[in-house]
Amino acid sequence: MAFKGLFPKLHPIKELKNSRLMEIAPDVWEIEGYISTQFFIKPASSNIFIFKDNDDVLLLDTGLYPYYRKIIIDVLSKFKSQGAKNLTLLVSQGHFDHVANNDVILEAGYDNVRFLLPKIELGTIDLFNHFTGDFEELENYYNPYSMLPLPVKMASKISIKFARSLIVRMTKKLFNGIETLVDKAELLSMDSRVTKKIGEVEFMGWDVGRFFAIHDGAHSPGHISLYDPKNKLLMTGDSTIEINPPFFNSRLVKCIELMEKFRKIAEQGYVNIAIDSHHSSTYFRKIFDKFNIDPLHPIQIADLAHGKDECVAYFTMFENYYRDLKDEILAALSNLKEATIPELVKEFKKSDNEAVKMKIAMKFPNFPSRLDVLIAVVLDELKVPYRRKGKKVIFTSISS
Ligand SMILES: [Fe+2]
Repeated sequence: MAFKGLFPKLHPIKELKNSRLMEIAPDVWEIEGYISTQFFIKPASSNIFIFKDNDDVLLLDTGLYPYYRKIIIDVLSKFKSQGAKNLTLLVSQGHFDHVANNDVILEAGYDNVRFLLPKIELGTIDLFNHFTGDFEELENYYNPYSMLPLPVKMASKISIKFARSLIVRMTKKLFNGIETLVDKAELLSMDSRVTKKIGEVEFMGWDVGRFFAIHDGAHSPGHISLYDPKNKLLMTGDSTIEINPPFFNSRLVKCIELMEKFRKIAEQGYVNIAIDSHHSSTYFRKIFDKFNIDPLHPIQIADLAHGKDECVAYFTMFENYYRDLKDEILAALSNLKEATIPELVKEFKKSDNEAVKMKIAMKFPNFPSRLDVLIAVVLDELKVPYRRKGKKVIFTSISS
């Protein structure tokens, strides 16, 4: 089985052919993913990374479109012909754009095949229940369906149940055909994490051969970034992506803390290549052109950050971006003193801050980026007090 999605006939087959296969460091290959401005019609597909280390091959993420399967197999076959025996699959997260071709590892002809998955990510890789469950969690604070485009928004005016049923139908179709291989996963428990220092900064995670899977829990509860000490390469998954936080179980404050740590190890000379799951010069540049968005830094529309200065700049950019979003939410709440999440969305949109403008430009449903979710996440993370008044949940400014 392979991903079919909502509109299989509209898959960007021609555009995908622009994806490049690049050796970004010795024996480290990237298959460039895909990103568009029509998320539900032509969803994103993550960058895919393949690392060879003597007998071992590590495949990190498998993307979304079946188109990428042959390219993955070709690289894996080449490494096998060079003597590699053991294939390990690791995913930066359980989201569908990173895991849809996971079963490709069974077709690569390796003697030993493993799929490692943080146990805490089981709830996310359960694609259907995660997506619909996320809405149900948000329902505790506001009507999340009322913030969506028309059909669902209208349905939510009739009843929440009706809006929910539309989301359920859409979700079933969206994930159609995906085989995550979760039943074959070797689960990594939180207790089995080890602490590792990179430079002067401590991280928790799992050793995978020469690599260290940093458990950051930023973009999703079991989200990992991968550090390759040999090449001083840091693959940050979706912890460096403008749409954060896309779900209620994503964390923005954790993103800020993580960027601070990554910036520090870059400043200390431990990162020479910083790369992530979605940035690419082929597709990202087009998005900025189409939406007339100025990048916060030129590095934002490059394939990767190379060298100490670029890596520091990259992490600093995201650190500032996330921090500005958080601060502007708190400023909006401070202005209103008391507010519901929909009221905060309106106030937040008035800001002139560059980070806010970028977040607004990358709007739903062009991108899986919702201002209401961003605000709900930050209020939840900061434990901002709230009270219930009838059906409304009213948050109170911490500074008032
Ligand atoms: Fe992603």
